[in-house]
Formats: sequence, C-alpha cells, structure tokens
Amino acid sequence: MSKPNIAALGATGVVGQEILKILEERNFPYNSIRFLASARSAGKQIEFKGDKYTIEEAKPEAFENLNIVLASAGGATSLALASEIAKRGAVMVDNSSAFRMDKDVPLVIAGVNDEDLKQHKGIVANPNCSTSQLMLALKPLNDYAKIKRLIVSTYQSVSGAGKDAIDDLTEGTKAALNNEKYQGKKFKDYSIAFNLIPQIDSFTENGYTKEEMKVVNETRKILHLSEDVKIACTAIRVPVYISHSEAVSVEFEKEISPDKARELLSSAYGVEVIDDPANSKYPTPQYAAGKDPVYVGRIRKDLALENGLSMWVVADNLRIGAALNAVRIAEKLVEMKLYQS
Ligand SMILES: NC(=O)c1ccc[n+]([C@@H]2O[C@H](COP(=O)([O-])OP(=O)(O)OC[C@H]3O[C@@H](n4cnc5c(N)ncnc54)[C@H](OP(=O)(O)O)[C@@H]3O)[C@@H](O)[C@H]2O)c1
Repeated sequence: MSKPNIAALGATGVVGQEILKILEERNFPYNSIRFLASARSAGKQIEFKGDKYTIEEAKPEAFENLNIVLASAGGATSLALASEIAKRGAVMVDNSSAFRMDKDVPLVIAGVNDEDLKQHKGIVANPNCSTSQLMLALKPLNDYAKIKRLIVSTYQSVSGAGKDAIDDLTEGTKAALNNEKYQGKKFKDYSIAFNLIPQIDSFTENGYTKEEMKVVNETRKILHLSEDVKIACTAIRVPVYISHSEAVSVEFEKEISPDKARELLSSAYGVEVIDDPANSKYPTPQYAAGKDPVYVGRIRKDLALENGLSMWVVADNLRIGAALNAVRIAEKLVEMKLYQS
C-alpha cells in the first residue's frame, strides 16, 4: 500500500496548527500534503517542514486524490463537506462534535479502541478533549476490574475555548490587578480571572451542560459500557491556560487496590503515573502542558464507593484532547491499512 495523500482542513486554526506541528514531530508518512481553510485564507502561504505551501479553499473539488483528511474547521464545515470527502474516497478524521454520537461513525482514542476503526465508512470522530484524557486513564482499569459507576469533575483550561478565551484570562487578570473593569469576549457574564465558572457550553434539559453530557455519552461509546454503568460529570472552567485536570471517582465490579492501579497505569499506553504523596509529587496542569502523556496521580481508595478508587488525571488539552489523537488515528489508519489507496 502506498503512502497516503493527506490534507489538513482548518490548517490555519488553533487545532490545525497543532496538527501540523505534531505531523512534523512524529514524521508522519505521506506521499503528498495539502492545506485547506476558508476563502479568507485561500492563496496565503503556510510553512510546513521548512517548505512553503499555498492554502486552498475547502471546496468539494479540493478533496480529489486524497486518502486522509484531518479536519478541524468546525462542525458546520465538517457536516457540509463529509459526503464530498467520502464520495472522493478519502477518510475524514474529524475534530468537531458533528459526528461523534452517530452510530455509523467510530469514536476513537488511539490505543484504547483501535478495533472500532475497522467499522468506519469514511468518517472517524475524535472525542471531546475532557473525554480523551479520561479514556486513556480508565481503559486499563476497566479491562482489569470493569467500571460500575463513574463520577468526574473537570477543571478545564481556557485554551479549550479558543483564542478569545485565552485573551480574556490575560486581559482580565491585568485589569483586575489594576482595579480596572474588563468586558470578556468569550466569558461575557463572569470574569475568568481569579474565578471559576461552573458552566461549559449550554445547559441541557436535565440540568447538565452539553460538555458534561459529552463526557457521559462519549465514555460509554468508547469503552463500550452498558446503560447500567452510571456516569455523572461536572465541568468547570478554570483560570489556567493549558491542560485540563480531572478529579475522578470510580467504582469497579471487583476490588482493585491503589497499588494494582498504579501498576496497571504505569505500563498503560499513553499514560504516566506521578504519585508520591509523601514528597508532594503529583501532576499539575503546568507540568502537563506541551507534553504527550496523560498524567495520573493521587491514586487512593475512594472512601464513599465500594471497590472504589479516586485519582487525579491531567493532560494537555490541545495535544491529547485534539491534535495528537487525530494524528495518532491517522497513523492507525495507515498501520491497519484502513484507507483506499
Ligand atoms: N480548541 C480546542 O481545544 C479544541 C479541542 C477539540 C476539538 N476542537 C474542535 O476543532 C475545531 C476547530 O477548533 P479551533 O479551536 O482550531 O478553531 P479555530 O482556531 O477558529 O480554527 C478554525 C479553522 O477552520 C477554518 N474554517 C472556518 N470556516 C471554514 C469554512 N467554511 N471552510 C473551510 N474552513 C473553515 C478556519 O479557516 P480560516 O482561518 O480561513 O478562517 C480555521 O482554519 C472545532 O470544531 C472545535 O470544536 C477544538
């Protein structure tokens, strides 16, 4: 099978730029590469591996002769272009939420449920950032002791909400220190500086936010958990630039000691354990930023659950939560020969 012709759709965006960085870092094997974005960017130059390329407008014809498209141009663009891409024989690895819960679309974390890739019909969805890091940490524990109940509280950085949110943290902090007022661009109702916001995305009818329900529904789909497994999530935006953190309490069908969990997680794909409470060693968002692993620490017996464990899971949301997993999925498609050549 020859190396694939690939394209980055949304190459100029926050996630798109990270995808290019990771393709380069990992020396992704390709025959040709193209860069697509909106009409606003068409004709501009983009640099990749030291060469300059011209950005093309993402019209249907731009997807001719491609094998893999890494898409991070928003849900509306993915919805509009998915059938055009599939019709021309390429697989779209989609970072938006447009197809995640579609039963015909595999939702994949590389290293967790790679086998699901075999079911793809031209689209593979990349999960939400807070789900992604959680899956890598839970997979080895679920394989060993089977999850019965899961309670997650997320502490999500502003970079997950885009550039305006990053500016709000910087400008809002400066203003607060100078006793000045600042009107947020992304966070319009509450300041993110020196504050926490217990709402990410809009509320659904059951009182949970869409972000919280993504964690619930995506976890069930990726780990193939039955409806009997109870899952709840509270998602909080915190004044941190990069990395999401999660306080996780999980009940298992059989006993699993903290030592056993540490042993399983220490050898698990994509996970690193930092857990030495006596010396105050545990992962923090600052430490995880810019790195690939999902870090797990504070592993202890949960005092409120039977066969329960509590732990602290931290990862760079821009990498594992989006671009890194997208590139890893593309690598798996190549490795497993799951694209048309
Ligand atoms: N930020 C995160 O942490 C994160 C994590 C996981 C998933 N995601 C998802 O990834 C996607 C991109 O997010 P982002 O933060 O990278 O957004 P962004 O910085 O706003 O970038 C959007 C990209 O999409 C392109 N685009 C917009 N409209 C288009 C159109 N009609 N046709 C073709 N290209 C178009 C833009 O091109 P121009 O530059 O030409 O406008 C740009 O390259 C979203 O679906 C988001 O939900 C983001």
